[in-house]
Amino acid sequence: MSRIVYVNGAYVPEEEARVSIFDRGFLMADAVYEVTSVLDGRICEFEGHVARLHRSLAELKMAAPVDDAALLEIHRELIRRNDLTEGTIYLQVTRGAADRDFAWPEGAEPGLVLFTQAKALETPKAAETGIRVASVEDLRWGRRDIKTTQLLYPSLAKMIAREKGADDAWMVEDGYVTEGSSNNAYIVTGAGTIVTRQLSNDILHGITRASVLRLAREAQMVIEERPFTLAEAQAAKEAFSTAASIFVMPVVEIDGVPVGEGTPGPLAKRLREIYIAAAKATSI
Ligand code: PDD
Repeated sequence: MSRIVYVNGAYVPEEEARVSIFDRGFLMADAVYEVTSVLDGRICEFEGHVARLHRSLAELKMAAPVDDAALLEIHRELIRRNDLTEGTIYLQVTRGAADRDFAWPEGAEPGLVLFTQAKALETPKAAETGIRVASVEDLRWGRRDIKTTQLLYPSLAKMIAREKGADDAWMVEDGYVTEGSSNNAYIVTGAGTIVTRQLSNDILHGITRASVLRLAREAQMVIEERPFTLAEAQAAKEAFSTAASIFVMPVVEIDGVPVGEGTPGPLAKRLREIYIAAAKATSI
């Protein structure tokens, strides 16, 4: 059975879904997106993802195609129609279709596409083994806080990391780690402090990041929001990444150097459990 996807007002089998070749998302990556996780058939962190979507839209002076209640209903309808118990929902808003021009078109109807991806999120194999990352220079544009569909460089970075025998890339700028190809990056120091880069235009303001830091504080963990170098990460006790698609994922190797014992660390494992429990408790 093929998936049912949502395209500009209609629920259609994926094979029948169509968007215009003039869609500015297609021509210019003039589009923003969100990825939201689903556990037990319920949406996790919906409020946070919708708030960030509005922020991305506002930064690009793009209109929201439907209101938040309608967005929630579309998410729920896709879960129902695809019988999704665990996985992600991808949402993309584009500025719409218009004759190609660098200037933004007037009066274009914003485009809206959503689809589901069934995927093991709670107990994927990678969470048991941890992942290996390789450093790649961060060559993205300067507004990484806006969640646009310009993903060519993160995608290339992931492939460079794969060629180096790693699972993912951690990107580095001016000697400091910014974030992963599609996740936020953290280390745990010898003293047990969680270190992650502070929010700015240099990184995406992760919804998982915000919850993980709040939950860590509630669990009396110590957090420092500041940049860290690759050398500091390689010498750290633990490392991990966060995103809606991986929750809290232990990182066990950086550029071939084992982090700590070279196995998932206790703090990352605990945060993963705490996060999943909280995400389930607040899912809708
Ligand atoms: N990516 N940093 C980048 C560059 C990201 O692309 C993502 C998410 C994150 C984590 O954000 P959040 O916790 O809100 O998922 C950080 C999604 C999962 C993706 O592109 O598939």
